[in-house]
Amino acid sequence: MKAAFIRQIGTPDVIEYGDLPTPEPGPNEVLVKVGAVSVNPIDTYIRAGIAKMASSFPYIIGCDVAGTIEKCGAAVTRFKVGDRVWGSNQSLFGRQGSFAEYAAVDEKWLYGTPAKMTDAQAAAGALTGITAHLGLFLNAGLKSGEVVFVNGGTGGVGSAVIQIAKAAGAKVIATVGSADKQALCESWGADCVLDYHSATLDDSIKAFTQANGGLHVWYETQPPANLDRTFGLMSPRGRVILMAGRSARPEFPNGPFYVKDLRLSGFAMFNATAEEQRVCGEAINALFENGGWHPLIGRTMKLSEAAEAHRLQEGNTLQKQGTLTGKIVLVP
Ligand SMILES: NC(=O)c1ccc[n+]([C@@H]2O[C@H](COP(=O)([O-])OP(=O)(O)OC[C@H]3O[C@@H](n4cnc5c(N)ncnc54)[C@H](OP(=O)(O)O)[C@@H]3O)[C@@H](O)[C@H]2O)c1
Repeated sequence: MKAAFIRQIGTPDVIEYGDLPTPEPGPNEVLVKVGAVSVNPIDTYIRAGIAKMASSFPYIIGCDVAGTIEKCGAAVTRFKVGDRVWGSNQSLFGRQGSFAEYAAVDEKWLYGTPAKMTDAQAAAGALTGITAHLGLFLNAGLKSGEVVFVNGGTGGVGSAVIQIAKAAGAKVIATVGSADKQALCESWGADCVLDYHSATLDDSIKAFTQANGGLHVWYETQPPANLDRTFGLMSPRGRVILMAGRSARPEFPNGPFYVKDLRLSGFAMFNATAEEQRVCGEAINALFENGGWHPLIGRTMKLSEAAEAHRLQEGNTLQKQGTLTGKIVLVP
């Protein structure tokens, strides 16, 4: 089969596209004929060796997958041949990844794809949707009527946070880096969209939260730079979610944190159990069926262009080039 893989960690140039043996599914695995995959920042960290997950080479890259089951291992119970499925968590902890014509995937990481959801949509919302859900519910315990702030409202995670929080009855403040992204956030239901460059950003956040009962969840998709500012904007008993910025070492404002009874929760989606993630996957499917799930696809490329796709992802997430709005989807 054709696959995008690496033989060593390094820059996007180490990504090769070529023939590897088609995997044989183990007892708990299904063989997925891949319809679409999507690129996430963690794919670039694994390839670069920042996240030490690649342990045997050649190593097929890629977490997210959507496609159709071609073969089932003997112990598989939840799926049958011909089922359409989507999921994430490939290429982690030594597992082979999804950027290939076929992927052998443990059924515990997969969810049935709703009939009207395309493979491209399913792949585009996989890791980001699960991450948004884990942060909002498992970590922040979001309740209906609360106010959520999220940075990067059109980013992979940020766009999912808006849609999932709105479906839970929250009010959402989202930030964007340019005015053209405001309408997109509003189309997903964001109640207040602000430019993160604005000199009056915090005044606008305060005005909205004062008029809407406070600020209860801060979902930070950026490396935290100024926790004093964040804690200052939060309501008592607010929850702050940190999930980005491996090398960030922000100062910790102890007084403002405990005097307000705040809670700080860090998490990485790949530490969540399959059972925890399945709650998210099924919630995302239900949201799609109800018309509330719209994964944004910014670029569709061929699987053979995986190296270029990594350059584009890295350029946007790390170097903040601003040349991408939405997920990069690759098709075999
Ligand atoms: N812990 C986990 O489990 C987990 C899971 C997924 C992702 N992550 C991490 O979370 C981060 C976001 O991931 P992603 O997939 O959403 O990335 P992404 O799609 O590249 O989105 C990045 C977002 O950041 C926004 N942004 C850039 N500079 C900003 C600033 N100064 N202030 C506010 N927003 C800013 C961008 O907004 P504009 O486009 O409008 O400029 C964009 O919406 C990455 O660091 C990733 O590694 C962690």
